[in-house]
Amino acid sequence: MTYTPEPIVRIFDTTLRDGEQSPGFSMTMKGKLRMARVLSALKVDVIEAGFAAASPGDAEAVQAVAEEADGPIVCSLARVTERDIDAAAKALEPAKRKRAHVFIGTSPTHRQHKLKMRKGEVLDAIEHGVRYARSIFEDVEFSAEDAMRTEKTFLAECLRTANEAGARTLNVPDTVGYFTPEETYEVFSYLINAVEPDDQTVFSTHCHDDLGMAVANSLAAVRAGVRQIECTINGIGERAGNCAMEEAVMALRTRRDTYGVDTLLDTRRFYEASRTLEDVTGEKVQRNKAVVGRNAFAHEAGIHQHGMLSNRKTYEIMEPEDVGAPVSALVLGKHSGKHALFARLEELGHEVSPDRREAVFAAFKLIADEKHEVSDDELRTLVSGASNRVVPVL
Ligand code: KIV
Ligand code: ZN
Repeated sequence: MTYTPEPIVRIFDTTLRDGEQSPGFSMTMKGKLRMARVLSALKVDVIEAGFAAASPGDAEAVQAVAEEADGPIVCSLARVTERDIDAAAKALEPAKRKRAHVFIGTSPTHRQHKLKMRKGEVLDAIEHGVRYARSIFEDVEFSAEDAMRTEKTFLAECLRTANEAGARTLNVPDTVGYFTPEETYEVFSYLINAVEPDDQTVFSTHCHDDLGMAVANSLAAVRAGVRQIECTINGIGERAGNCAMEEAVMALRTRRDTYGVDTLLDTRRFYEASRTLEDVTGEKVQRNKAVVGRNAFAHEAGIHQHGMLSNRKTYEIMEPEDVGAPVSALVLGKHSGKHALFARLEELGHEVSPDRREAVFAAFKLIADEKHEVSDDELRTLVSGASNRVVPVL
C-alpha cells in the first residue's frame, strides 16, 4: 500500500515537554494540569506530557496528565533505551490512550560528539528501541533528532528501520531551526518517496524557530504530505521556541484554499490557552504576537479605524471570535481619527454636537500626544469639561 495523506492534520502539542524544558517556562504540577485541561478542550490530538525518565518530577507530571486528560493521546518522550521506555510505560499507565515517543540523534554532529556511535550502531539502536517500545505500546512514534542536518539517504534509512520495526509516526525534527521552507518541502518530498511507508504511517514535522521560520517550515512540510505538526501554545520551546500552534492551525484554516487541509481543533479556545500559559509560567506573550497577541485584533490608526467601522474585513482576515479573543478593539491614541473618537464617545453615551467637534478632537489629540492610549475615563473627563484641555462641551 502507498502513503496517501488524508485531509486532516494532527496536532501534537509539546508545550508541557519541549516548552516546559526551556528557560523561564517551568511549570508546577498544578500548572501542568491546568494546561492539560485547556489542551483537552482545544481538542489537540496528542499531548506530550513530559520526559518520564528525565526526573522523578517529570514522571509524576506525565502520570498526573495521563490521569487527567480526556480525549487526546498522552505521550512521553524516551530515548531508544529499555530504561527510558519502561519509565514512559510506568508513567503512562493510567492513560486511556497512550503513545511512546522514542528518539535518537542521527546527524554526524550528534553521532560523533554526543552519542559516539557509528551509523550501523544508530540503526541497531533504532531497531531495538522501537521493537521494544512496540512490545509494550500499540502506538509508537520515532524521532530522528537533528534530522535536517543528517545525510538524506541515511535519514531515510533510519526512518525506514523505525517504520519496519513498528513506529507508525515518523517525526523529522529541525532540532536547531536551520532549514528554510523550500528545503523542508524538498526533504519531505524525498523522504515520503524513499521510505516507502504504508498508508498507516504518518509523517510528522517538529520545527524550531531559531531563524523565525518554524511555522513557515511546518506549513511547507504539510504541503509535501506531512500530516502531524508538533507545536506549542505561544510557540514556547527550546531557545527561540517551537512552531506556534495557534499560528500554524489558523494559517491552515484561513488559507484552506492554498493548503487544502484542516485540523480538528476547537480554535475558539486559543485565546484562553494562550492566557492560561501566561498565567501558569508568568511569561507574557509579545503584544504584536500573531493570532493571540493583544494587538492581533486592535486598531489605532485613523484610516484603519475608519475602515473597521465600515466593515471588519477591511483590516482583518480572521474573526476574533474564531480564536476566542475579545471583540476587535479600536484603541484611541495619537494616530486615531475623528470617526473612531466620536463613535466611542457615542458608545459611552456622549453625543457631541457638530459645532463642538473640532474643539473636542483638538483636545483629544493633545492628551493622546502624551499617552499611548486614551482611556474611556479620560474621554468622559474630556467631554464633561473637567479637563483643562477643552472648552466644555454640552
Ligand atoms: O527538537 C527535537 O529534536 C526534539 C526531539 C526530541 C523530538 O525535541
Ligand atoms: Zn524540539
